[in-house]
Order: sequence, then C-alpha cells, then structure tokens
Amino acid sequence: MFALVLVGGFGTRLRPLTEHTPKQMLPICGVPMIEWVVSHLADHGIQEIGLALGYRPDAFIAAYPDGRIAGLPYKVAVEPEARGTAGAIRFAAQEMQLEETFLVLNGDVLTDLDVGALVDFHGQRNAEATIALQAVADPSRFGVVTTDNDGQVREFIEKPPMDASPSNNINAGTYVVNPSVIDRIPDARPVSIEREIFPEMALAETLYAMKSDTYWLDTGTPEQFLEANLDALRGRRKNKPTLPVAAVDATAQVEDSVIGTGTHIGAEATVKRSVLFAGCQVSKGVTIIDSVLSDDVHVGEGARIERSVIGLGERISAGTQLVEQTRPEP
Ligand code: GDD
Ligand code: MG
Repeated sequence: MFALVLVGGFGTRLRPLTEHTPKQMLPICGVPMIEWVVSHLADHGIQEIGLALGYRPDAFIAAYPDGRIAGLPYKVAVEPEARGTAGAIRFAAQEMQLEETFLVLNGDVLTDLDVGALVDFHGQRNAEATIALQAVADPSRFGVVTTDNDGQVREFIEKPPMDASPSNNINAGTYVVNPSVIDRIPDARPVSIEREIFPEMALAETLYAMKSDTYWLDTGTPEQFLEANLDALRGRRKNKPTLPVAAVDATAQVEDSVIGTGTHIGAEATVKRSVLFAGCQVSKGVTIIDSVLSDDVHVGEGARIERSVIGLGERISAGTQLVEQTRPEP
C-alpha cells in the first residue's frame, strides 16, 4: 500500500527550531524525524511513500537525493501555497495519481501503531476512511473522536475547548483513505480534513476509527520534541535506527571518557578514563576503568573491566571480572 506523509506545515510551535528547517527534518537523537516515520512504515510492509510538501520542500529533496528515505522510494508533491491537511491530500493524490486505497500520515507523529491491523479493520468495516485512535489525558489539543461499538465515528471535533471533550480518544494522525474521499475535498483552496471533511464523513456514516494503545507521540511542541528525543534515547521505541549519538542513563557515572556514537551506557554503570567505540551496550551496574572497547561490544550486568582492551563485537557476560586482559585472547 502507498503511504502519503503530510510534511508541509510551518511547525510554528517549534520556532525557532523550524525557522530554517521543516519540523519533520529536525533530528530525533540525530536521525531526522521523517526517517523514524518512514522506517516504521517500511517495517509494516509499505513499499512506496509520497511526501506532501509545502514549507521548505528543498530540505527534504536535498537530504535524500537518491530518491529513497529509510530504504523506501519516495515521490513528492509541492503545494503552490499551504492547502491545509485535506487540500494537501487532494493535491498530492492528483499529482501522484493515487487511484487505490492509501494511507495518510501526519508526518510529525512517532508511533509503533500496527498499520496492518488498521488496514484490516478498514476493509472489514467496508469504511470510506478509517482513523487510528489513541487515548490521551488531555484531548483538547487534538482531534477528539467518539464512535459506536463497531468503530463507526459518531463525532469528530478538532481541538474542543478544555473540559468540553466528549471522549479521551483522539485522532492519532494515521488514516486509511479510499479514493472517493478525494472527491469530497473542494479544490484550489485550503481545506482541513479535521475541521471539514471528517465531520462531514461522520454525518455520512462512512468514517470508522480503530483504538490502539501502543507508543504514540505528536512531536509538535518543544516539550513533546524533547520527550521524543528522550524516549528514543531510553529505548522506548520498538524499532529504532542506529543512533548517531551516545546515550547515557541518568544514574550512570561517566568521567574522562570518550563514548562512541550509538553506544548506550545503562543504569548505575561507571565509566572512567576509558574509550568506548561505536555501538557498544553497557548494561546495568557495569564498571569500566582505564580500558578500551572496540565497536559493538556488549557488556553484561555487573561486569567489571579494568585496564583491559576488548575486541570488536565481543560479548562479556554478566558478572565477569576482567583485569589487565586483552580480549579476544590469543
Ligand atoms: N502538505 C501540507 N500542507 N502539510 C500540512 C499542512 C499543509 O497545508 N498543514 C499541516 N500539515 C502537516 C504538518 O506538517 C503535520 O505533519 C501534519 O500535517 C499535522 O499538522 P499539525 O499542525 O501537526 O496538526 P496538529 O498536531 O495540531 O493536529 C493534528 O494532529 C493530531 C495528532 O497528532 C490533527 O490531525 C489532530 O486531529 C490530531 O489529533
Ligand atoms: Mg502535530
């Protein structure tokens, strides 16, 4: 299935970060947000994507000159002016000649949603469009959705006033959309899918929604953007790219040391006067002093490494005590 990712917004709530860079090109632990979104789609069998571009389209095109993002080939549609979320879908669907059911995603949402389950749900209900839902504590910042027992949407209310929300289930920003939805979107003016098209489809009883309770985060505010980075750092995401940053647990102690990219220092670990190359995993309670670890070394819980040199990809099991050793041994 084809997936259209909406990445044309101005990212106003993230200024000044978005003054020169579109929101979805901002780094989450050093990896542009769009790559997190697309690699999740690739993991769920999506084979091609489209980018609905508006604000600073060149930033995307310049970053992926070989026509692929996270391994998937991509097409682009650049709106002549901001068309709103529905206007963007209509414009891109025409430019990309989308004639079959496709996915639409808000490009600023990080989630482990089971995309295949959403597509199945859509097919089983014979829906015209199906929205993924997520339960949140404060729904007022989102599109609020109520459904009947079968998942048919009764009401879709975009950003209701505080305490006036009829439900805690919100639009999670992933949709399965039949081509007939395009015909509902007026041409050549900005149209919001949330304020105009979904409420109309709810009345027409053709809109469905599926609850999900997986990892989900909209990254659109500074607090959420920070949270997205910390979640990735702490390994809260199911699938993650290799991170070009090092991650150090809050309870770890690192002094006078060089920590390579993608290396993770776990809780209560101590690292002193040491060099750790890239991609190492240092488990809870490990001590590493005056030592050098090559790339991709894994050190099990509570192990102690002192004045030692550890070779590429070595696995040091939990509790091991190494003093003045060179691994692997000759
Ligand atoms: N191409 C294009 N053109 N993309 C746009 C446009 C446009 O005119 N306007 C917004 N977008 C993109 C944004 O870049 C973003 O990826 C996505 O559409 C959603 O826009 P946001 O500005 O982030 O919306 P929001 O976070 O306030 O609310 C939306 O997301 C919530 C979930 O995260 C709504 O869809 C809510 O209903 C939803 O609950
Ligand atoms: Mg958003």
